[in-house]
Amino acid sequence: MGKLSFWSFFGAQGRDLPLPRESVDGKTVVIAGANVGLGFEASVHVANKKPSLLIATCRDTAKCKQTLESRCNVLQVHYQIVTRVLLVLRERCPGTRPASFDSWPLELSSFDNVRSFVDRFDAEGPERLNILVANAGTFKPVYTRTQDDWEIMLQVNYLSFALLGILLLPHLLHSATCDDPSRLVLVSSLGHYLAAPVLTGSRNWDHVLGAISAEKLGASGLVPSRYNLSKMLQVAFMREIAARLPSPTPLVVTAVDPGFCHSSLQRELEKYRLLRMIVSFVKWLLRARTSEMGSRNIVYAALATDAQDLHGKYMSSCEVVEECDYLLSAEGKVFSERLWWETIEVLSKVDDRVPQIVSTYLPASST
Ligand SMILES: NC(=O)c1ccc[n+]([C@@H]2O[C@H](COP(=O)([O-])OP(=O)(O)OC[C@H]3O[C@@H](n4cnc5c(N)ncnc54)[C@H](OP(=O)(O)O)[C@@H]3O)[C@@H](O)[C@H]2O)c1
Repeated sequence: MGKLSFWSFFGAQGRDLPLPRESVDGKTVVIAGANVGLGFEASVHVANKKPSLLIATCRDTAKCKQTLESRCNVLQVHYQIVTRVLLVLRERCPGTRPASFDSWPLELSSFDNVRSFVDRFDAEGPERLNILVANAGTFKPVYTRTQDDWEIMLQVNYLSFALLGILLLPHLLHSATCDDPSRLVLVSSLGHYLAAPVLTGSRNWDHVLGAISAEKLGASGLVPSRYNLSKMLQVAFMREIAARLPSPTPLVVTAVDPGFCHSSLQRELEKYRLLRMIVSFVKWLLRARTSEMGSRNIVYAALATDAQDLHGKYMSSCEVVEECDYLLSAEGKVFSERLWWETIEVLSKVDDRVPQIVSTYLPASST
């Protein structure tokens, strides 16, 4: 059943998750939001598997530099010789980066920034892109709009990743075969199970995205509802894009819940002493995973060899589980299809490559 059960959640939180064993030999991997938290730990796992290239994105160049430096420290433990050579190379050739990983800026609250990232990938990146992990995410307690005039969690957690995924789709598809498919992993959340009540009456909304972005959202505009909803939209998008790809698919699309983890996601709440104490207590009570443990879910979804079985699926604790009942219901399916077309409409105005990519690669209607 696609429901959040406290006891199964609580049991899973304490479980030791498998370390990924699969190889990324010869592959190019992009992990978005990699300077801290789950994205950082996932990048360390992937970097240790010697991909042909790992691009770990951060919001700005200063964070990219920090990430590269800390990644070097991690690599030093595991690949002392390689790292020494890379570090020596970097010292001798200022401005160059070790060939197997790089860190590029990607600010998801700006569509222009997402487009620049893709333009740079087109111009400087390798032809192949095998794995894209849409990990970055934000939780904002105060209603905030972006420069593109969308509510910030809607844009960062959903719209910008939809844009990034669609613009990079040709790379993902051209790098793959059905035997060795590319991967698109959207880092969602168990919070998506709690989002359905916010959509009560959404059938009557003129514009789903506009209504979700508005300051007054449905019956409750509470911040956790908005965050959870942005995570549900990711799962809906994953299902829609998966339904439009051929079967068997050269691109496996998956949404993953990393579990409740220690990270800096609640940083805005933790600025206040009392809230910091409450968040710490809740993390202790609910057995929050370390970021490293949570990242294993992401790496599993990105690398596991039973790829075709993961296509169009939602995963938690390194297993396929059912997404929320709402998305499986007739009403949820209608909502998801509306969401898909509205998303394509919005993103087509942002970048004229979008309609072309959608009509070329994603023509089938969802089931
Ligand atoms: N921690 C949990 O319990 C939990 C549970 C379920 C799902 N998740 C999901 O897991 C993912 C990773 O979160 P986390 O827990 O590791 O949190 P985190 O430590 O706060 O990391 C979030 C990452 O996203 C980046 N990011 C935030 N806003 C961004 C923006 N506007 N543009 C580009 N990057 C941005 C952050 O960069 P900066 O550091 O520069 O802000 C950081 O790299 C998120 O999608 C989150 O929703 C987390």
